[in-house]
Amino acid sequence: MTQTPPAKVTVGDKVIDLPILKGSLGPDVIDIRKLYAQSDAFTYDPGFTSTASCESKITYIDGDQGVLLHRGYPIDQLASQSNFLETCYLLLHGELPSAAEYEKFESTITRHTMLHAQFDRFFDGFRRDAHPMAIMTGAVGALSAFYHDSLDIHDAQQREISAHRLIAKMPTIAARAFKYSVGQPFVHPKNNLSYAENFLRMCFAVPAEDYVVDPALVRAMDRIFILHADHEQNASTSTVRLAGSSGANPFACIAAGIACLWGPSHGGANEEALNMLREIGTPEKIPEFIAGVKDRRYKLMGFGHRVYKNYDPRAKVMQTSAYEVLAATGRENDPLFQVAKELEAVALKDEFFIERKLFPNVDFYSGITLSAMGFPTTMFTVLFALARTVGWIAQWKEMIEDPGQKIGRPRQLYTGATQRDFVPLSQRG
Ligand code: SDX
Repeated sequence: MTQTPPAKVTVGDKVIDLPILKGSLGPDVIDIRKLYAQSDAFTYDPGFTSTASCESKITYIDGDQGVLLHRGYPIDQLASQSNFLETCYLLLHGELPSAAEYEKFESTITRHTMLHAQFDRFFDGFRRDAHPMAIMTGAVGALSAFYHDSLDIHDAQQREISAHRLIAKMPTIAARAFKYSVGQPFVHPKNNLSYAENFLRMCFAVPAEDYVVDPALVRAMDRIFILHADHEQNASTSTVRLAGSSGANPFACIAAGIACLWGPSHGGANEEALNMLREIGTPEKIPEFIAGVKDRRYKLMGFGHRVYKNYDPRAKVMQTSAYEVLAATGRENDPLFQVAKELEAVALKDEFFIERKLFPNVDFYSGITLSAMGFPTTMFTVLFALARTVGWIAQWKEMIEDPGQKIGRPRQLYTGATQRDFVPLSQRG
């Protein structure tokens, strides 16, 4: 990083020089690591909206311009020209693979898709109506009970095998969570299928008949995985980094990320966005719904973003996928898609949304697409977690391999009671 003249902070009668560090893209950062020692004061930034928590080379977002780069490559180019496993390699290793590197990586992932036979009994402990995200959180955390041979986070080879196992097994676990919820038998992975094809077959094949995968749905599934692969230091990625900073094993850290992603303000928004469209039902009900948003009775799910103050570049690609899947499944006139397009058109022209810079995000169209592919809404965030696993593990790996890495330990502004003496019960009123 190149350096510029320091920032100056006056605390009481002291003027403190704080180095300003420049990255390759994006805002400079003020290095406050020595501020507390020199000023006896903390910085204060609940929600970390003005805080860079780490240095990273993986993903860059420009919220004002609506730009998303993975290792420098724009998301729309990866979505249209690459595939999910190649994007996984890029996120993990920093460069696009050669043909030989890609073939080896694909073969490695393919041969790690099966689960330990004992693992399948783990699902029996859940009620059949358990939310698949509850199953994912538990099942992924349980993986560390099966892979004692790869829990040493300081061993580069064990870090790599854990990353491969997680990327490879998430589709198998996700498909099992779905099959368990619908009472159908588990379907084992097949090594002659591509990553997305294998996943769709494990979800929708039944023993009673041969399953024919629709290439249009495979392409859409693979693209949806690419769109959800990584997204800088979002809430769930920050959770994975903080969990990993204590030295916890990668399976436990990814389980923590899944738990955080489940929230409706984060990955749970795709499920909520489709439920919202179903609740609106018809374009005629849109004005009444928008009035409720303006009254702060509820939020427009799938709209707004902590960073994007422009159109989420993933939402554009997701809308294209929605068209393709609806056409492939004979739902071109899907009423919910009509409601979504009309709702977007109305919101983008309404001052309430314009002045708050609220645009569709990745979750606005994903629900319609996934529903048309046959997934119930309870599976939407599971698919988000499946895809985001590569981003989480790439960011975890980058943190563990950072020589300056230490345990994350934020401080606070304390406004509670000052010290006082205990009063025995007999002396209290
Ligand atoms: C993801 O961080 C990531 O990168 C996440 C993610 C990823 O890939 O990891 O991109 C995935 O989580 C996408 C976001 C999915 N969530 C939703 O779609 C849920 C609906 N969106 C909101 O809850 C909200 O937009 C957040 C949580 C996403 C952002 O919240 P902020 O940071 O509070 O938004 P803001 O500061 O821009 O809000 C400004 C104003 C506020 O109103 P005022 O109090 O100033 O009057 O806009 C309002 C907010 O209340 N607002 C909304 C709104 N989002 C913000 N009002 C109505 N509907 C909304 N969706």
